[in-house]
Amino acid sequence: MPIRQFRRLMLVSAFIGMPALAQGWQIPKPAPGLMPNPAAGKPLYERNCASCHGVDLKGTDKGPPFLHRVYVPSHHADAAFQLAVKNGVRAHHWKFGDMAPVKGVVPDEVAHITAYVRARQCQAGIE
Ligand code: HEC
Repeated sequence: MPIRQFRRLMLVSAFIGMPALAQGWQIPKPAPGLMPNPAAGKPLYERNCASCHGVDLKGTDKGPPFLHRVYVPSHHADAAFQLAVKNGVRAHHWKFGDMAPVKGVVPDEVAHITAYVRARQCQAGIE
């Protein structure tokens, strides 16, 4: 394929591909009016996430730490938590492998867990 045609194809697929991707990614939403609460998030985090991300949020041999600049809100928005729990995560930042979806944790609970992680990041001076 001539390079010009190829470039045009790439441009077109970028335009078509991105909205399609965005539509496929339905971000689970917590109930409107829910007040995400770090205290409610702590036990949920410990039950569902700590085995890989660490009780101290510093990671384990199965998953990355959340007390890390990679997971500040500007780089991983709260939606990333909802998507990670619902769809799992394909390994991309680290060498731990993929994260499987976490079953049985509803969006309200994810919002509490995220609030807990944000509170701990804040305490650790990672913002
Ligand atoms: C079985 C291990 C395991 C469990 C349990 C687990 N995770 Fe993960 N998680 C991982 C791994 C591994 C990654 C890193 C993937 C990468 O980027 O390389 C990850 C990455 C993430 C990310 C980053 C997503 C992104 O977009 O880069 C978020 C957010 C996350 N996990 C949230 C959670 C939450 C919330 C829970 C609990 C409800 C949880 N995880 C439970 C293993 C786990």
